[in-house]
Amino acid sequence: MFGSEVVPFLLLVFLGVSMAIIYHGENTRVVDLTFAMNASTVYWPGSPDFNFTILNRQEIGNHWYEANYFSTAEHGGTHLDAPAHFSKGKWRTHEIPVERLVGPGVIIDVRSKATANHDYRVHIPDIEVWESKYGNIPQGAIVLMNSGWTKRYPDKSLVFNSENTTDPETFHFPAFHEDAVKWLIQHRNISIVGVDTPSLDYGQTKTFPVHQLLGANNIIGLENVAYLDKVPEHSAIIFAGVTKLYDGSGGPARVIAIYTIDSSNYNTLITISIITSIITVVLSLLIFRFCRLG
Ligand SMILES: *[C@@H]1O[C@H](CO)[C@@H](O)[C@H](O)[C@H]1NC(C)=O
Ligand SMILES: *[C@@H]1O[C@H](CO)[C@@H](O)[C@H](O)[C@H]1NC(C)=O
Ligand SMILES: *[C@@H]1O[C@H](CO)[C@@H](O)[C@H](O)[C@H]1NC(C)=O
Ligand SMILES: *[C@@H]1O[C@H](CO)[C@@H](O)[C@H](O)[C@H]1NC(C)=O
Ligand SMILES: [Zn+2]
Repeated sequence: MFGSEVVPFLLLVFLGVSMAIIYHGENTRVVDLTFAMNASTVYWPGSPDFNFTILNRQEIGNHWYEANYFSTAEHGGTHLDAPAHFSKGKWRTHEIPVERLVGPGVIIDVRSKATANHDYRVHIPDIEVWESKYGNIPQGAIVLMNSGWTKRYPDKSLVFNSENTTDPETFHFPAFHEDAVKWLIQHRNISIVGVDTPSLDYGQTKTFPVHQLLGANNIIGLENVAYLDKVPEHSAIIFAGVTKLYDGSGGPARVIAIYTIDSSNYNTLITISIITSIITVVLSLLIFRFCRLG
C-alpha cells in the first residue's frame, strides 16, 4: 500500500512514542547535594588537613587492586552537625535516630537578598513567603537555605568571603537568624536545619546562637549543602546520609534529594509527543500523495 518512502516517517512516530516512554522512566529525579571530598575541601580554620594516601594502586598477581587511606576532620565540606556539637549530653552522631535523617525538603530561596547583603540571615518573613506558596512546613521537614553560595565552593576566600581565611572575625557569609530558628522550633516539628554556607550561624557571629538552639532542641544541622538550585522548593525528599561515626559531633554526609516531576507537566509532554506524531504522519502521507500525483 505504501512505498518505502513512508519508512522514515514511521520511524519518527516510533521516536515520538519512545520519547514519551523515556519521560515516563525519568518521572523520578535523584539529585546529589554533596561536594566531593579531597584536598580542596573547605574546613573551619584550625582543622587538620584532609589526608588521602594511596596504599595500593597496582597489578597484584592476576588482577588490579586499589585501596587508600583517608582522614578528615568532622566539620568540613558537605557535613552534618550532631546536636552534641554545641549542647552537652545531646545526641552524638551514632545516636541520631535514622528517621531524623530523611524528610520533606523545604528550600528557602534567599539568593537575591544574600547577593545584596553577604551578612544576610534567614528571618521569619522568609519562612512565611515559603508557607504562603506551599502551605505549612511539614512535620519532620529538612529546612535548607539556598543563598546561591554553591558557586563559590571550594574557593576558600569566596566561601568565607574574606581576604583572611584563617580569621573568622573577617568572615561574611549568610545563614539563619536565631529568631527564625526559634520560630521553627516552637511552631513547626522539624528534623534538620541546613545551609549552603560553612556555618548555620552567619559569618559575623560572636556567640553561635543558632548552633546552641538547634543542639539544645536535638535538631540536626547541615552545612555546605551543594547544588540546591537543582531541587524544587518543596516536594523533594531529602536524605542526609552521615557517616555513622561512634561518639562523633557530626561528620561528612552524602546529601541526596529525590523528587517526582510534576504530573501535569508529564501529561503535557505525552500530549506534545502524540500530537507531533500525528502531524508528522498526516504531513508525510500528504507529501507522499502529492509526489505520486506529480
Ligand atoms: C577536588 O575535587 C574536585 C571535583 O569535585 C576537582 O575539580 C579538584 O581538582 C579536586 N582537587 C584536588 C586538590 O584534588
Ligand atoms: C597521611 O596519612 C599517611 C598514612 O597514615 C601518613 O603516612 C602520612 O604521614 C599522612 N600525611 C600527613 C601530611 O599527615
Ligand atoms: C514530630 O514529628 C515526628 C515525625 O517526624 C513524629 O514522630 C512526632 O510525633 C512529632 N511530634 C509532635 C509533637 O508532633
Ligand atoms: C589572618 O588572621 C590570623 C588570625 O587572626 C592572623 O594571625 C594573621 O596574621 C592574619 N593574616 C593576615 C595576612 O592578615
Ligand atoms: Zn559543622
